[in-house]
Amino acid sequence: MPPKTRLFVILTGEHPHLPFAELRGILEACGLSASAELAAPQVAIVDASDAELTVTSIVDRAAYSRYVAKLIYFGSTANLPERLGDLIKDVEWPEISGSFKVMAVRIGGSSKEISGTQLEAAMGGEILKISPNLRVDLMNPEHIVLVALSGGKVFVGLLMGTIDRSKFLSREIPRRPFSHPVSMRPKLARAMVNLGRVRPGDVMLDPFVGAGGIALEALEVGAFVLGCDIDEKIVWGAEQNLTYYGFKESFRLWVCDALNLGLEGTVDSIVTDPPYGRASSSRRVDPKKLIFRFLEKSLDLLKPGGYLTMAAPREFGVDDFVERVGYELVEVVDYREHKRLTRRIVVARLR
Ligand SMILES: C[S@@+](CC[C@H](N)C(=O)[O-])C[C@H]1O[C@@H](n2cnc3c(N)ncnc32)[C@H](O)[C@@H]1O
Repeated sequence: MPPKTRLFVILTGEHPHLPFAELRGILEACGLSASAELAAPQVAIVDASDAELTVTSIVDRAAYSRYVAKLIYFGSTANLPERLGDLIKDVEWPEISGSFKVMAVRIGGSSKEISGTQLEAAMGGEILKISPNLRVDLMNPEHIVLVALSGGKVFVGLLMGTIDRSKFLSREIPRRPFSHPVSMRPKLARAMVNLGRVRPGDVMLDPFVGAGGIALEALEVGAFVLGCDIDEKIVWGAEQNLTYYGFKESFRLWVCDALNLGLEGTVDSIVTDPPYGRASSSRRVDPKKLIFRFLEKSLDLLKPGGYLTMAAPREFGVDDFVERVGYELVEVVDYREHKRLTRRIVVARLR
């Protein structure tokens, strides 16, 4: 087996669990033999068999990650920056040439006694001592040495990828031709698709497709989407949205009741955000009953080993129910929307 490359990923601080759970989902969805562990707040270490593919997959798919770097060193921040010279001499420094700069990222107010700018300058100086062929270019460097300070630890690495989270802006709800308030925002929808381990070429079903927030993100990662909704106008709107973003033949939408989909065969995954009986209507059916009845039916819709990912109000207890009907619970993430709504995102695998 080829040796694994150690990477570190800086996650966003938008949620305590979702970014790392999303990262694990991406690694599994992309079939990467990589293990991930949380080494400090917002910093995950990933041991990857194929470093380039791992970096590309994270950069292309993640909504809640910021940077991916090849790990050179990690340890305590004690006596930094005085210890930098020894630290750099002791590590196996990558053979790079051309220009570089050091970029320091402080996470959660960690190691405030160390100034980021001083750290960048001191580290740059030490690197130049051991690699005299390198030169500093702050504006347009060929290499970026990433230094992250988190939870009393310092992580040093060579930046391999930056996640462009602005790509989600163009799909924000008000920017879509059919803008519907109950639709899911693109970053959360993308995280749902990643938690659901949706792979390119998979057939993903959203039985409560609404305006197509989840469908759009699944299409973006290369899935074929089947989407249904009970509301004809909403299905028309979802169609406008998916077409507007350039998708034509990789989806099928239709009007129907999620309890009576009329589907032949099974799908690879189900990712969905059903009505909660608040902003989006469940047509006078008790939303919890509707969701539970759908969950029972979902057992016949999914391929064995397929994943079901659902967001619902925490108090509905979808996590307990999926286990009771025979799913294996994989992930539970609570996402506080506002004072009166915490969504519980449940990921379950059909045995
Ligand atoms: C929360 S919204 C889905 C939002 C969607 N995830 C999005 O991002 O646009 C729930 C949707 O379920 C639909 N719905 C309600 N009862 C249904 C049923 N029995 N079968 C199918 N769809 C239903 C509603 O019309 C609504 O569009």
